[in-house]
Amino acid sequence: MGLQRAVSVAGIGLVLLGTATLVLERGTAVTHTPRPVRLSPQAQAEIRQVEARINQIEADSVKRARGSSLDALGELTLLGKLILFDQNLSVNKNEACAFCHMPETGFTGPSSALNMTTVSYPGSVRTRFSGRKPQTHTYATFTPVLHYNALQGDLVGGEFWDMRATGIRLNNPTAEQAQGPPLNPVEMGLIDSACMVYGVSRSQYRQIAEKVWGPQAFAIHWPGDVESVCARPGPASASDPYPVHLTAVDRGLSNRTFDQIGQAVATYEASSEVNPFSSKYDYVMAKKARFTADEEAGYALFRSNSTHCNECHRDGGPGEACRIRVANGRRWPSLLPGSTRRRRCATWTSAHAPIS
Ligand code: HEC
Ligand code: HEC
Repeated sequence: MGLQRAVSVAGIGLVLLGTATLVLERGTAVTHTPRPVRLSPQAQAEIRQVEARINQIEADSVKRARGSSLDALGELTLLGKLILFDQNLSVNKNEACAFCHMPETGFTGPSSALNMTTVSYPGSVRTRFSGRKPQTHTYATFTPVLHYNALQGDLVGGEFWDMRATGIRLNNPTAEQAQGPPLNPVEMGLIDSACMVYGVSRSQYRQIAEKVWGPQAFAIHWPGDVESVCARPGPASASDPYPVHLTAVDRGLSNRTFDQIGQAVATYEASSEVNPFSSKYDYVMAKKARFTADEEAGYALFRSNSTHCNECHRDGGPGEACRIRVANGRRWPSLLPGSTRRRRCATWTSAHAPIS
């Protein structure tokens, strides 16, 4: 279901983009498949730069993994980083997670040419486009498991725009999110989750992975055709949904390692390298800096009932302490937009210290 939706969204994207920004190959009659598209020279150049930068970060991380004596959490975090920046884990060995989430741009899409035109990013199969704008994954690990919040009268938590990585199975939405892109035909394009496990088992950091997860992680009997099967872009056909044919025990091992891959990536995404809390806003909240008069006025406007910005862009600042009070079981007025109770709540909070 999810995959079908992603593919059809990408199909619509290509039609729209063909007229707006992309150079179409000429002379091909279109029947059922969209015409092949070619990215603009600027986009192609930027993509090559991003690929090179990712390889450089990966090489530095491999060096660190070999040379350092890290504690257990440090090893797991570095392992997650090694996976996140590994281009070889995609079907055409050209697209790491980081391709759409680069540190230089706050862990969202780094290409100006794409941001100004297609907005979404091409997959490992470069003529397929991801369905949406890449979200930043900075601070994503603060998202709770999807649940109903009675105070807000709404569902809260889960990852992706539509919260579909609920986190209910692994008790961690970020770990479950990380299992999506590898199998998404318009992103990393693998045909089977076992291809991801196989890829890590053939990586330069296999040793650190086995040290962290144990020797069972890759003790899988791979079929002779695993390389050629995994070189075929997904999705798998309904008649053969797991085309890397494994015994039941090997499939169990592979599934477990695939879960641990998600958990390692989530551990890196939770690290201070990804969540620096170093903006001026953070310093103001920590009382280490002060807003200018203009910033102060903008902040008040941002949080006011004239803009409602803060209803979607929750900042954890004054006023939200009130919601937390209620959530912790204290009786306190609800926060329906525009209600007089909301103002009482705001008055209450301004008289008390904001949450730290
Ligand atoms: C082709 C571009 C692309 C690649 C490759 C990609 N992502 Fe994303 N990422 C996106 C898009 C687009 C979204 C939003 C998708 C949606 O809501 O359906 C997203 C959403 C996310 C989120 C959710 C953030 C939130 O607050 O809910 C996280 C975390 C994330 N990606 C991490 C990863 C990881 C880890 C990988 C590799 C396993 C990866 N991404 C690979 C484009 C990409
Ligand atoms: C109904 C919910 C909602 C409201 C209300 C809202 N926004 Fe947004 N805003 C979003 C979403 C969703 C995005 C897309 C974020 C992205 O693409 O990464 C966004 C994006 C943004 C961005 C770009 C963030 C980035 O990282 O690129 C800014 C800046 C922003 N909003 C400011 C505001 C301001 C200022 C207001 C009030 C005037 C406001 N928003 C009101 C939902 C909302």
